[in-house]
Formats: sequence, structure tokens, C-alpha cells
Amino acid sequence: MTNGKLRVGVIGLGIGHGHVTAFNSLPRAEVVAICDKDNAWLDHCKQAWGTRYAFSSWEELVACDELDAVAVCLPTVFHDAVTIAALNAGKHVLCEKPMAANAEKAQAMADAARATGKTLMISYNQRFGSDIQYLKKYIDEGHLGDIYFVRTAWRRAMGAFPRADAPRLTGNYSRNWFNEKSMGGGVATDLGSHIVDLAMYLTGFPKVKQVVGVAYNKFLPEVLKSYGVPSDADDHSVGFAKFENGMSMQFEASFGSYIEQEKIVQAFYGDKGGAHRESGQPVKLFGQAAGQYVTTVPRIDMPGSSPMEHFVDCVLEGKTPIVTPEQGVAVTAILDGIYKSTGAG
Ligand SMILES: NC(=O)c1ccc[n+]([C@@H]2O[C@H](COP(=O)([O-])OP(=O)(O)OC[C@H]3O[C@@H](n4cnc5c(N)ncnc54)[C@H](O)[C@@H]3O)[C@@H](O)[C@H]2O)c1
Repeated sequence: MTNGKLRVGVIGLGIGHGHVTAFNSLPRAEVVAICDKDNAWLDHCKQAWGTRYAFSSWEELVACDELDAVAVCLPTVFHDAVTIAALNAGKHVLCEKPMAANAEKAQAMADAARATGKTLMISYNQRFGSDIQYLKKYIDEGHLGDIYFVRTAWRRAMGAFPRADAPRLTGNYSRNWFNEKSMGGGVATDLGSHIVDLAMYLTGFPKVKQVVGVAYNKFLPEVLKSYGVPSDADDHSVGFAKFENGMSMQFEASFGSYIEQEKIVQAFYGDKGGAHRESGQPVKLFGQAAGQYVTTVPRIDMPGSSPMEHFVDCVLEGKTPIVTPEQGVAVTAILDGIYKSTGAG
């Protein structure tokens, strides 16, 4: 640390671009190093931000002595190796979601965090919405009673499939890994990991008993035909999980289907009340006493305005983040269950 500021290195400058801006806007953090394999983009970013170090290999950044923490913003297949190397090099880690390509790799990351004593937080940024924090408090206060069923979904309409390449100021770059199974792509791990995480977080991470599901690959091969790139990841996934406490969860994630418009939905059914959260609408609450009411979220204490701010606060103040490695493993195991169930036919 210098001048009380956490010295951060950011690896991968796609969403990592936003991490750099967020860390640099915080009074107690400073991005000292960046890394990307796209050298033209790396040079551009180094110039634009005046970052001290720019590496084209993540191994070099992880080994840099002038860093306290690393943000891992690479395609999902790299999360486990880079996170574990960074923890073993004595760095705290903020890793983008999903935690890893499967639960075994996620567990290895959690084990490394425990063994090194360093902070590992998964960047489930949707938890930092004020409506989610409001619902968390409302549910923890017991207003819904025993939650027996949860519906969680993020589905997009046709035309929103992940692109094979994307534009940036220094030229187009390949972004097809979202559509490739072997790279940790697929909608269950991408959008699905957010919505499973939200459902689990809000219901207190009950223990999973059984998961079934189907991961479909319906449209990507046709959508990507002209690019000649792999297209074997799931573009629509559905699932159902049963928990040891009696709760069940219905799950749906889609990169594109014939529906009216994009929607993110979480609905909670309890024996004393219910809650419904839908993108673009106020939270709706239902209860025996209150009847039905719609609420815009009142001002509440937030754990930070972003995962980056919360991560910096937790590292500097020795606090446990609201997203723990064990929770990341649990979410990844549910997603694994959907893929395994698909294979089981
Ligand atoms: N929290 C969110 O809402 C959110 C949003 C977008 C992405 N993500 C997650 O962030 C991660 C990255 O996604 P993205 O959208 O930024 O992907 P992206 O493909 O847009 O960007 C990845 C960057 O990493 C670089 N890169 C790839 N392999 C590399 C390597 N081996 N060494 C160094 N650099 C390498 C690429 O050149 C690219 O600049 C994924 O895990 C994704 O799921 C999370």
C-alpha cells in the first residue's frame, strides 16, 4: 500500500476497463498495473490512464511486487488458474463472475483463499442494486416467512446473442468465447450465474439436494455461421433445484428467444408473504397483513456503491465481503447440475 491506497492490478480490459475506472475513482485505491493480450488496446489504455505498468502476460502482472490486489477480468476459463496464482503470490483477488468454469475449479479457488488467508471476492455486481439490498433486509426480517419456492430468470429477445467480435478504438477483437463451451461460455454460466446467485443470496444459501435441467443450443450455430467460429455453448437453459430445507427454485436464462423483450425476474413465495422483482419496475410485496403494495426502494445502508468499493473497504478494514468464495462454489455447483442433467438425457 502507498499513502493508504490499495495498489490494484487489472487483468483483462473488456469489462476490466470498467474496473479500472471504478478503482481509480475511489479515494483508497489506485490501479498501478494493467494486463491484456491485445497489445494495441493495452498501449492505448496505458496512455489514456497513465498507468505505471502494462503487461501482455498475466503471469508478469501477478508477479509484480508493487501490487496488493488483482482484479481478474478474463474469459471465465482462465479464472481459476489466474486467481490461484495471484493468491499464492500474496495478492487479494476480486474475480469476475462466474467464479469458474465448473465447481471443482471454483472449490480450488476457495481452498487457495483459505490457505493463503487473502481476500477472494466474486464480482456479483447485481447484489449491489438498492432493490436487492432492500429485499435482502426485508426477507431477513422474516416478512415472507418460510420461502418455499423461488422463480429466477434472465431472458433476452431475439437479436441479442453475444457477438463473435466486438469493436474497440484500436480495432475489432474476438469476443466469441461467450459462445464456446470449452472457454466457459454459455448462457447458464453467463446470465444464469447472476440470477442463481441473487436467488441464493436472498434466501440465505440453503443446501442443495437435487438439480435437473436442460441446456439448449438452438440458435448460435445459425447466428454465427458466417463467422466460422465455435458455437457449441448453450443459448437457452432451464433448470429446477430442490433444497434440503424444502425450498425449490425454477431457473431460466436465455441469450435470445422468441419473446417480447428482455426481462430479469425474481419472485419469492413464502408462507407469510411474497416478493416480485422485475427489471424496470418497482419491487412488489404481498403479505397477509399488508395486502399488496408496490414500493420504490427507500434509502438504505449499502455495502458500497460497487463490488470494487466494497472489495477495497473489506481488504483495508479486514472485513468479510458480502460475496464469499463458498457462495461462489455453491452457485457454480447448481450451474454444473444443469449441464450434467442435460448430458444425462
Ligand atoms: N459482472 C458482470 O455483469 C460482467 C459483465 C461482463 C463480463 N463479465 C465477466 O468478466 C469476464 C470477462 O468478460 P468480458 O466481457 O470482459 O470479455 P471480453 O472478451 O470482452 O474481454 C476480455 C479481455 O481479456 C483479454 N484476454 C483474453 N485472454 C487473455 C489472456 N490469456 N491474457 C491476457 N488478456 C487476455 C482480451 O483481449 C479482452 O480484452 C468474464 O468472466 C465475464 O463473465 C461480468
